[in-house]
Amino acid sequence: MAETVHNFHGSDLEQIEAYYGIRREDIIRFGANVNPLGLSETFRRKMAKELDVITSYPDREYKKLREAIGRYCEVTAPFVLVGNGSTELLSLIIRLCRPGGALILGPTYSEYERELLLCGRPFQYFMLQEAEDFMLDENSLTEKLDATISLLILCNPNNPTSSAINIRQMESVVKTCRKYDILVMVDETYVEFSPDYEQTSSIPLTSVYDNLVIIRGVSKFFAAPGLRLGYAVTGNTALLQHAHERQNPWAVSSLADMAGQLLFSDTEHIQKTKELIQSERRRMWHLFSAMDGIKVYRPQANFMLARILKEGRSGAGLFENAIRRGLMIRDCSSFFSSDHTYFRFCFMLPEDNQRLADCVREYLH
Ligand SMILES: Cc1ncc(COP(=O)(O)O)c(C=O)c1O
Repeated sequence: MAETVHNFHGSDLEQIEAYYGIRREDIIRFGANVNPLGLSETFRRKMAKELDVITSYPDREYKKLREAIGRYCEVTAPFVLVGNGSTELLSLIIRLCRPGGALILGPTYSEYERELLLCGRPFQYFMLQEAEDFMLDENSLTEKLDATISLLILCNPNNPTSSAINIRQMESVVKTCRKYDILVMVDETYVEFSPDYEQTSSIPLTSVYDNLVIIRGVSKFFAAPGLRLGYAVTGNTALLQHAHERQNPWAVSSLADMAGQLLFSDTEHIQKTKELIQSERRRMWHLFSAMDGIKVYRPQANFMLARILKEGRSGAGLFENAIRRGLMIRDCSSFFSSDHTYFRFCFMLPEDNQRLADCVREYLH
C-alpha cells in the first residue's frame, strides 16, 4: 500500500505546527541533535547576573574566553580562534584556503558543500560505504589524495552516519596530507558525546601537525545553538593570523563571550550529559538492533542512523507517523539522494526515547 507523505524539513517548525496542529513546545526534537538536558541551573543562575555585559563591547582578543577554551581542550590559548558559531569558522577557513580542489568525506553535513559552491571552488566527495557500515578505511582515502587537492574536510563523529575515525587513523590521514600540502579541516561538533573522547578527538594532533584545524561549537553538546559560539583549534600560526585579519571585529557577542566562559567550566553538567548520552546510546542500540525490518549503524555520537528494510516503508513515512505523536525525527533523503529508506534520531530523555522506539516498532509492523 502506498504511503501518504509530506515533504517537511526538520527545521520547518512553523509549517509543522500549522499543518499538524501541534504546538512547538510539544514537539520532541529527535532531529536537532541537541543535548536533551538543556542548560544547567548553575549556568542559568550565574548567567542571569551577567546581563550588563551587553553594555560594553567584548574584549577584541577574547582573552578570557580563549583561555577557558584552552583549559577545556588542553591546548594553549594562542591556538584558539573564536567565531560566530562553527558555521562562521568553517566558512572563514574555506574562504581563506580558497582550495584549488577540495575533498569531502561523505555523506555528510551539507554546509561544507554549500560554502564551496558559494565561493566557486571545485570539490568532490569520497563516500563512506554502506557495505562497510559507513566506517572509514583510511588507506582507501589516503590513496585518493594527491597534489590536486588542497583541502580535505571531515566531520568526526560524522553527521548523519554517527561513525567516527580514531586518532591513529586521523594521524595517518593528516600525515599523508602534509606530504601533499593539504589542509585538513575536522568538524568535531559532536565529539564530546563520543563514547571514547580520548580516542576520537584529534585536538592533541594540532601541536604536532600544522596542516590541521579542528572546528567545534557549543550548539549541540552545551544545548546553546542560539548563542552562536564556535571555536577553532590549530597550530597553524599563519592561518590564525589570516583569520584574525579577515574576521569582522566582535564576531562573538559579549553575552556569548561570558556564556562560553561559564559553560566550559560547568564540569558537573558536562559529566551528567556524558553519562546520560552514554547510557541512552547503549540502550537504544540494543533496542533497535533487536527490531525486525530495520538496520542500525553503531553510533559514536548522540544520534543514530537507521535504514528501513521493510518494503513500502520510508524515512518520510516514518516522519509522518512520528510527528503526529509529537516526535520529530530526521528523514535522511537529502543525504542519500536516491535512497529514501534512511532516517536519523538523537538520544533524548529515556521516556521520550522509549516512545520513539515504540513508534518505530509499530510503523514497521
Ligand atoms: C556537523 C555539524 N557542524 C556544524 C553545525 C552547525 O553548528 P553551529 O551552530 O556551531 O554553527 C551542525 C548543525 O547541525 C552540524 O551538524
